[in-house]
Amino acid sequence: MLPFREAFEWLDANLPGTLYLRDAQYGFTVLLTLHVVSMCLFFGLIIMMDLRLVGVANLGTRPAEIQQRLFPWQMFGFGLVCISGGLLFWSDPLRYQGKLYFWIKMGLMGLSGLNAMAIHFITHGSEAAWDSKAARVAGTVSLVLWAGVLVTGRLVAYEWLTYE
Ligand code: HEM
Repeated sequence: MLPFREAFEWLDANLPGTLYLRDAQYGFTVLLTLHVVSMCLFFGLIIMMDLRLVGVANLGTRPAEIQQRLFPWQMFGFGLVCISGGLLFWSDPLRYQGKLYFWIKMGLMGLSGLNAMAIHFITHGSEAAWDSKAARVAGTVSLVLWAGVLVTGRLVAYEWLTYE
């Protein structure tokens, strides 16, 4: 049994609009499409940043400039991904409570957030810090963690590792 069952049962019974989102002909489908499109925007921009950190691409542009240009769009993409993902969750909280892949995905997102903070602290001191070993490691970790979010997000749709 996965945690917080009672809290999720309460959400399932009390969240307004849950039944509508779950049963509307296009509700879930439209949200999932929005989730995938915004995820492409967000993850694509994260990859551009991370490849610079790892030292593989965008080497001709100053890292601070890349960061300045990409960050607002990354945050925009992340906002859309959270809103669409949150609404998908809203459509059937009890279903997701029983899915281990959903919890793993949330955990990996938390770790990615911590790693993003680490990148900020590593690089904010100087331009040279962007080309340090620590920055390369943090960029690699970021790519691995976000790819993990992608894979586990996709696997949520199936019945593997699903518990009542
Ligand atoms: C607050 C943040 C997020 C929440 C609450 C959330 C929640 C969800 C939910 C409920 C689903 C539907 C699962 C299903 O029943 O099939 C889903 C699908 C998915 N999510 Fe998220 N998500 C979030 C962020 C992200 C991020 C940041 C990524 C990747 C960068 C991501 C990648 C995916 C993928 C790949 C799918 C599967 C799409 C498909 O079935 O084709 N999600 N998400």
